[in-house]
Amino acid sequence: MEYLPIRVSTLRGDQKINFDAYIMINDKQILYLRRGDSFEGTRLVRLKEKKVRKMYILQSDEKNYRSYIDTNLSLAYDSKSPKSIEDRGQIVQGMQQAAAEDVMERPEDEVSYKHAKDGAAKYVDFLLKEDKGLKSVLQIENTDQNIGHHGVTVSTYSVALAKSLGITDPKQTQLLSLGALLHDFAHTKSDLKINRPLSEFNPEELKSYQEHPMVGATAVKDLRHFDRTVINIILEHEECINQSGFPNKKHENQVDPLSVIVSSANALDRIITFERVAPKEAIKKLTIEQMGRHPLNHIQILQKIVSETYT
Ligand SMILES: [Fe+2]
Ligand SMILES: [Fe+2]
Repeated sequence: MEYLPIRVSTLRGDQKINFDAYIMINDKQILYLRRGDSFEGTRLVRLKEKKVRKMYILQSDEKNYRSYIDTNLSLAYDSKSPKSIEDRGQIVQGMQQAAAEDVMERPEDEVSYKHAKDGAAKYVDFLLKEDKGLKSVLQIENTDQNIGHHGVTVSTYSVALAKSLGITDPKQTQLLSLGALLHDFAHTKSDLKINRPLSEFNPEELKSYQEHPMVGATAVKDLRHFDRTVINIILEHEECINQSGFPNKKHENQVDPLSVIVSSANALDRIITFERVAPKEAIKKLTIEQMGRHPLNHIQILQKIVSETYT
């Protein structure tokens, strides 16, 4: 029998699946969930705990899987959807994560990039138009410290920052969202354990860590379908306004303002996701321990988002 891989991040919400879903164990596909069941609750939690990123369907079910995805997307993005905002947020977050994973796995694939780029515009719309959209996505904990999920979170904070800063041009916000989604692309290609405070890195690890923005940007710089702004964000997302960032110790006025936004958003989610600090503590840490590295108004906006999201 022929199987096709599908991403676990596309299986969200309480919609019943119309295909059988298999997991691979020792090179064999084992039936995990039958058609008629759904992925809500503990099933999804268990898969995340095991860091299962891909599942399999029978090739003959491909059409059914596509229609499941289409239904999920329209349930999520339709402002008159009968689904709760929490369910919609889960689906939307998963779709963004899947798009990020697709591009990060095969950046040379133009179709995946275009799909992620279109998705980024839709995602911005969702965040701007849905009152509780921001909260519904940010409340989904990145339990498996997934780089794609981290990308979605940084993209979410970035869009919220842009909104508060009065950046409304749709082209700009789309590229901001996409650049933020893909910013840590290089981490998916390295074995460096990034899920601990930088103070615990030894000199070699730190050196390698500080190269990741350049490694990521260099890997995609010759791909013609990649937008310049996105490549810039990948390169500049660790720069800080007081020249304490890397790889080029740039000053605020040498960095694309969109990269400055992603850098602030990234600094916050790095502490939350990879150092496992509770969001309210994390924003305090960012404010006090990293004073001067990010614009004060960014920090104030992030403080407000955190206090409204995690009550
Ligand atoms: Fe990074
Ligand atoms: Fe990051």
